[in-house]
Amino acid sequence: MPTTVLRDIGTLVTNDPALGNGPLGLRRDAAVVFDDAQVVWVGDSADAPAADQAVDLDGRAVLPGFVESHSHLVFAGDRADEFAARMSGRPYGAGGIRTTIAATRAATDEQLDATVRRLLAESLRAGSTTVEIKSGYGQTVDDEWRSVRIAGRHTDEVTLLAAHVPPPEYAGCADDYVTMVCAEMIPRCAPEARWIDVFCEQGAFDRDQSHAVLSAGIAHGLVPRVHGNQLHQGPGVQLAVELGAASVDHVAHVSAADIDALANSDTVATLLPSADFCTRNSYPDARALLDAGVTVALGADCNPGTSYTTSLPFCIALAVRELRMTPDEAVWAATAGGAKALRRGDIGALSPGMRADAVALDAPSHLHLAYRPGVPLVRQVWRGGVLASN
Ligand code: NIG
Ligand code: FE
Repeated sequence: MPTTVLRDIGTLVTNDPALGNGPLGLRRDAAVVFDDAQVVWVGDSADAPAADQAVDLDGRAVLPGFVESHSHLVFAGDRADEFAARMSGRPYGAGGIRTTIAATRAATDEQLDATVRRLLAESLRAGSTTVEIKSGYGQTVDDEWRSVRIAGRHTDEVTLLAAHVPPPEYAGCADDYVTMVCAEMIPRCAPEARWIDVFCEQGAFDRDQSHAVLSAGIAHGLVPRVHGNQLHQGPGVQLAVELGAASVDHVAHVSAADIDALANSDTVATLLPSADFCTRNSYPDARALLDAGVTVALGADCNPGTSYTTSLPFCIALAVRELRMTPDEAVWAATAGGAKALRRGDIGALSPGMRADAVALDAPSHLHLAYRPGVPLVRQVWRGGVLASN
């Protein structure tokens, strides 16, 4: 594959402090060279080496591709009516998930695959070059198995959300559902996934049930991540830390002890402000988390119930306006933070050796992602060195 030089970059976000200013490793008037699927050179545009192809950015900003570490793309149907009812005052509860479970079970593999493709194309246009995909709308062995298989056609980051909500046939006997998940679902589905997830929340699964599911996943070689503390203060954060989870996601309702536990752990707090926006939930206290030294990622949480968006730029704008993150913190969280949440050392930064995943904006700097909310600023996306969309 030919080498490519991106030159005359107005502001380059490298996320490598050794290459530029601050935690984002910012450089002005910069260039980047890709060789095949890898970044091989970063420096001043004036010093850029020749390459087989040259792309003139005309002073536009270039960032690492966004790393979406939390999405639920394997589903059928939508819940626009539930959203409208919520906007008229009905609160969000975990039970709405069952509507999507029914629609997903009734869908064909081809229908589910087409939805995943459509939403991945949408997220790519918004700049996401890596997308984690969860199962969780099947909640039978066969339906979860086909969900992780379909997800695995499109990403290496497949999560078995084995326990999302007790399905209707297990109403009132969540313990029996958990027993089935541990004995049958996880052994069958684990070879198709990298991660195990559980919705630890009132109306979904309690601490002991969540612990059982995550432990069974770990015993089958999966690494835990947790939906925790989304709607209420609960045991999700502590459980995630205790089990060495890669991330605990949502964390909108946390105690001082939860923040302390996260700060002293390798567990990333993944904030999903578009879910809080679409459910009128309180936003997480990102300032308290960041000021305590917690590693924070941002995700869009695309799903038909709480957050039917694939746009990390929208989440960056929300994180800055509503979570009081600085624009630099929000951009880091949607790139390097997502990579940390997925325990990936090859993405989330633009420095030699990293994967050639990059986004060029129709703007001179990354600040415009928050400064110009709702404007589709992503102009070009390279994934593995290939121009993926423009
Ligand atoms: O991340 N919280 C649990 N799961 C999804 C919502 C699922 C749904 O409502 O369909 C979330 O918000
Ligand atoms: Fe989620």
